[in-house]
Amino acid sequence: MERGIESSFGRYLNYVRISVTDRCNFRCRYCMPSGGVPILSHEEIMSYEDILFLAKTLSSMGVKRLRFTGGEPFVRKDFVPFLERLRSELPDFAVAVTTNGSLVKPWAKRLGDLGLDGISVSLDSLKPDRFRNITRLGDLGSVIEGIDALVDSSNAVKLNTVMMKGFNDDELPDLLDFAREKGVLLRLIEFMPLDSEVWLENAFVSVDDMIDGLPDGELWIPERPSDSLTSGPSVYYRNRTTGQRLGLIAAVSHHFCDRCNRLRITSDGEVRPCLFDVRGRSVMSALRDRCSEALVETIAAAALDKPECWTKVARGESHMSRIGG
Ligand code: 5AD
Ligand code: SF4
Repeated sequence: MERGIESSFGRYLNYVRISVTDRCNFRCRYCMPSGGVPILSHEEIMSYEDILFLAKTLSSMGVKRLRFTGGEPFVRKDFVPFLERLRSELPDFAVAVTTNGSLVKPWAKRLGDLGLDGISVSLDSLKPDRFRNITRLGDLGSVIEGIDALVDSSNAVKLNTVMMKGFNDDELPDLLDFAREKGVLLRLIEFMPLDSEVWLENAFVSVDDMIDGLPDGELWIPERPSDSLTSGPSVYYRNRTTGQRLGLIAAVSHHFCDRCNRLRITSDGEVRPCLFDVRGRSVMSALRDRCSEALVETIAAAALDKPECWTKVARGESHMSRIGG
């Protein structure tokens, strides 16, 4: 139990990402086709009560960290009151959220009070026109206001940028300056080929190319890889002069599958052992019946389904908005 849920190839899963909604107020190019994706009805998705029961079960199985994602989680009504309840009922979890930042401002104070482990905000451009082009519906101003409000109330804020050639790859210096001024960590993410409808091969930028493109490249020193095996796919660089840190997430170019410690659960209760694999096992009926035994059994089986590596998976149309990143 201590190490988490037993998975295949000697792995243990102690980190679960739960999508609370598949809906989103943006249509980011790397995530969704322009017309969006079919959305689930309210009855099809897990209620907050369901998610609390799920979280309790996961805790009993040795899971230590939860991340709530969407779609955009703040699109769902009462997301923050839900987090507050989760924090008070299950205080031992490390809890993080992923958001596009556009709707967080009114909630920033209460989010800060929750003492979250991480608030990751997507920020793909600092130019309003481009931001709109990449997110299709997003307004940069509201996101910057959201980031400012979060930074005021929490020190867990991180910025995530999916680097895309011809879209935002020339903005690395500006994004670094912005992150340094706000005192938050910037993380650059490789564009992942999750969905053939949105994949743009020519836009792919590898982490190695991102490192080559760093301004004042000679000042950036790789940090020793973290001792923790749970640190995931990130590598970190530090600027010798400014002390600024930068995270790079090589989800595609360097596989970290042998150390993968995650499980994902979609908002309609499907346990997905791999981000790139469309196959999953539904826990919805076990959850609705409040049947711990069946729930544990299904989650344990899904954990054992984890493929050795995503390159060996037959991929399908796997929309990130369903699985939540
Ligand atoms: N490649 C990389 N990251 C993606 N995200 C969504 N789709 C992709 C993709 N194809 C991530 C982004 C975004 C978060 C919500 O999900 O980091 O910020
Ligand atoms: Fe929405 Fe996030 Fe997908 Fe962008 S990446 S469309 S913000 S779910």
